[in-house]
Amino acid sequence: MEKLRVALVGAGGRGNAHANAIAAAANIEFAAICDMDAEAGQTAAEEFGIEYIPNTGELYARDDITAVGICVQTPAHHQLAMEAIAAGRDLLTEKPMAASFAQAKEMKNAVEKAGLRAALSYQLRFGPVYAKMKELCEQIEPLQILFARQRSMLLPKYLSPAPFDGIMDFISHDIDMVPFLAGRKPTAVFASLRRDTWSDTGAIAVVGAQIEFGEGDDKTIGYISSSMGGSGVPERLDVIGKSGLAFTDGTSIHFTTSPNPPGPGDQREMQSASFAGDTRDLTTDLYEHWAACVLDPELPLAPAASYQDGYNALLITLAIVESGKTGEKINLDQFAASLE
Ligand SMILES: NC(=O)c1ccc[n+]([C@@H]2O[C@H](COP(=O)([O-])OP(=O)(O)OC[C@H]3O[C@@H](n4cnc5c(N)ncnc54)[C@H](O)[C@@H]3O)[C@@H](O)[C@H]2O)c1
Repeated sequence: MEKLRVALVGAGGRGNAHANAIAAAANIEFAAICDMDAEAGQTAAEEFGIEYIPNTGELYARDDITAVGICVQTPAHHQLAMEAIAAGRDLLTEKPMAASFAQAKEMKNAVEKAGLRAALSYQLRFGPVYAKMKELCEQIEPLQILFARQRSMLLPKYLSPAPFDGIMDFISHDIDMVPFLAGRKPTAVFASLRRDTWSDTGAIAVVGAQIEFGEGDDKTIGYISSSMGGSGVPERLDVIGKSGLAFTDGTSIHFTTSPNPPGPGDQREMQSASFAGDTRDLTTDLYEHWAACVLDPELPLAPAASYQDGYNALLITLAIVESGKTGEKINLDQFAASLE
């Protein structure tokens, strides 16, 4: 099997999951680890039995490594991605795409211009439950999508007032998932937020957000609900469609693809699919798919998230924060224009 030689930039907390995924991916040869923190980089390189490269300058001077995974802190995403793009490397980078809309736009445009394969680490898209839900959404014409995922307190390094920190870091996946399932262009956002509920850092702690796709009676409405105080509460993902409905508790899906509501006298026949025993590593699946796309330019990047998807998700994120501040519904086209 042809293998893509990949280096990982960033051997921190999440970097460990990237390193394991790169090492496990069947179509990747793990070539090197680059981290400016020599101890972190060398320790990881030893663990995986690969080369340590101390900085990206030395990495991009190498023509035997043509693709990179980048897993650095969010404020550094733009700089590191732009370096990789300028060096002509295909790249898989962490979410959220960037720390500002202007940065995300620059990254998206640069990737398009360079014709590189760039994916974002929205690995939830590769979860079997979500993949099945996506397949169902293509049949049932979603009208309403409710995604409620709770968690415990985030690590102190993720507690800041920034729009991508606090619970926003966690729901960054949900903000990608709801448009992914809707399969439509998001048009408006309305949100309500609480900060500082369980810390005094200014971090967003509780969020309820509504995302609209389309207009008037041709609208799909998405809802996201999450907080840092809901550890142990099972997740909910419910999709009500014109031609069926589906819901999941995170491990099983219950669904029907018959008309909704059923015709007079018709019984709704529900089917179920369980994914309880599926222990695949989603980041490995994402890396394998991205590597396959780099090796074969004809393969579609979907279901992996593209830089266009990341740009949309960042716009929604910023609109959630803005709506939470002003109490107003945000029209996304107008909001994007105001951020230019
Ligand atoms: N997809 C997910 O589920 C998920 C989960 C957790 C974190 N994340 C994201 O992963 C990213 C990284 O988070 P983390 O917790 O691993 O951060 P971290 O601070 O633990 O690690 C970042 C590493 O990058 C290195 N680094 C920074 N700039 C560098 C440069 N110019 N050259 C070489 N090395 C450099 C640092 O030395 C550090 O070791 C964040 O954006 C976070 O939001 C995603």
